[in-house]
Amino acid sequence: MWRIGHRGASGYAPENTLISFEKALALGVEGIELDVRVSLDQQAMVIHDATLDRTTAASGWVKDYHSADLQQMGIPTLEAVYNLVAHRCLLNIEIKEKAALQPVLHFLEQGVKAHTFANAKCILSAFDWHILETLRDLHPPYRLGVLTEESLEAAIQFAQKIGAFSLHPDHKLLTFEAVKSIQQHGIKIIPWTVNDPERIHTLKAWQVDGIISDFPDRL
Ligand code: G3P
Ligand code: CA
Repeated sequence: MWRIGHRGASGYAPENTLISFEKALALGVEGIELDVRVSLDQQAMVIHDATLDRTTAASGWVKDYHSADLQQMGIPTLEAVYNLVAHRCLLNIEIKEKAALQPVLHFLEQGVKAHTFANAKCILSAFDWHILETLRDLHPPYRLGVLTEESLEAAIQFAQKIGAFSLHPDHKLLTFEAVKSIQQHGIKIIPWTVNDPERIHTLKAWQVDGIISDFPDRL
């Protein structure tokens, strides 16, 4: 089972920062989850919210700032995280907005990265299923993760339709029967965000394929 650090190891360090990703790697994770938005100069930036207010000392929209300024605020580029991780674990890149799709693809399609990184060490996920539909038609084929916090049934159907690699539901939606049904369709099941030790124990007993947690050492 993949132990996947949510926004790095965000239970121990500020989320989506290089320190948080380093911490997750130090904890020995099999994977790291991160969120991507786009800067004014069309760079893929690793930040969860559309605005800066919650996680930085600045305020306003991420999309209104140049990547150099965002980096000064502690927001890494996707490239910086990629260089830090350097194939040491799987990267689950959550594309938070449609505008971030092209910057992410531009990054992934650079030379050798497309071959070794995108295909074997990367899952691209999104709540916006239109983004996943766009990705489905691209070559090389990317591993796609269908995110849902609502209907599990609709997500299973959509995941089958696009040939998704994995389904990433809010763990509260899951039952043992649902886990088995998803896996019988050849789709991996990776719930989030699971921090409670008892719930972790249950999901492991159900043999989910991965768990995303703020405290990946608890996995
Ligand atoms: O990718 C799983 C999880 O991170 C989705 O929710 O809000 O933490 O990005 P959120
Ligand atoms: Ca996320």
